[in-house]
Amino acid sequence: MSEWSEILDYLERSGLRRRPVTIDGPQGPRVHIGDREFLCFCSNNYLDLANHPDLIDAATDAARRYGTGTGASRLVSGSMTVHHKLEEAVARLKRTDAALLFPTGYMANLGTIPALVGRGDTIFCDRLNHASVFDGCRLASATLRVYPHRDADALDHLLRRERGGRTLVVTDSVFSMDGDLAPLPDLLEVCERHGATLMIDEAHATGVMGATGRGAAEHFGIEPGRIPVLMGTLSKAVGSIGGYVAGSTDLIDLLLNRARSFIYTTAPPPPACAAAAAGLRLIQAEPQRRTALWERTRQLHDGLRRLGLDIGPSQTPITPVIVGDARAALALAQKLLERGILAPAIRPPTVPEGSARIRITPMATHTTDDVAALLDAIA
Ligand SMILES: Cc1ncc(COP(=O)(O)O)c(C=O)c1O
Repeated sequence: MSEWSEILDYLERSGLRRRPVTIDGPQGPRVHIGDREFLCFCSNNYLDLANHPDLIDAATDAARRYGTGTGASRLVSGSMTVHHKLEEAVARLKRTDAALLFPTGYMANLGTIPALVGRGDTIFCDRLNHASVFDGCRLASATLRVYPHRDADALDHLLRRERGGRTLVVTDSVFSMDGDLAPLPDLLEVCERHGATLMIDEAHATGVMGATGRGAAEHFGIEPGRIPVLMGTLSKAVGSIGGYVAGSTDLIDLLLNRARSFIYTTAPPPPACAAAAAGLRLIQAEPQRRTALWERTRQLHDGLRRLGLDIGPSQTPITPVIVGDARAALALAQKLLERGILAPAIRPPTVPEGSARIRITPMATHTTDDVAALLDAIA
């Protein structure tokens, strides 16, 4: 018995204890656990770039040219050509003046929000934003107001009562656990009317949404530059790791000077940055990957609906099968595993109490037979 066993026992009894599975081999539509192969339906490697030869070659070349580590933070001696090239590539995709890299998307949110607002200011945050957005809000000394999910009218109402100080509105563009979309045109209109700054988290939209993969802002036809703060990650559709913020040169300069998770951490490793740059190239050069991902998504959504299952408000590849009870979700995940499908249960606190689920994400390289096998297993 350690001093922690009571908490661990409680988590176990409530069906909330977590244990990672160990994948032996690359991330793809199929993965190996031990000596068995599984269909993987839970990865954010949407376009299957994390094991693409171009990314592997780029990472290998960068390791040879720059080494594996950077040895210092970006503001000391850690900034290398590979970081600048990647920042330029992000800015080109997002069609902004500039971009800034962070080691992860989590750290981008953690550093950016407190750099933009402080005491006397107010943050408005969607109730279902990602944990990293909430953690960024908590680190800022601004007042935090949480508005109802996707509710631009409620936001308008709250902003009307606001007096003085800066106002920052933060929303995921694609919500990570329900796969629904923030009403970006409405939110933008409300923000512009009230002089509030809109920041969007495009973690699950970049590479997935919009004709060129620019994200949900492109999907909605919002002109580049109108949303002042575009945050995202290189760890999902882009196939590597790293977070970024894209925007005006002043915004980027401010973050470089103020974002603590940029300043007080070692610069990201060159191989990961070079791989991400190769991923960004493929996102734009091979739109057929995006098309395939959406075809599999439609097949999945239609199939689950035909089975009479509750997939919530999903409008994107992120597809929740909502079970409710955490232990029931665990049991379903276990049954799927026995049938050769990896799609773990997502439980509180990642999702609200009583809404435990299997979160299914197809990949561009899943076949129609793969999706049919998943539907069959769920049925
Ligand atoms: C909406 C959202 N924002 C931020 C992150 C954090 O990104 P990263 O994994 O690069 O830290 C994630 C997921 O991990 C996410 O789903």
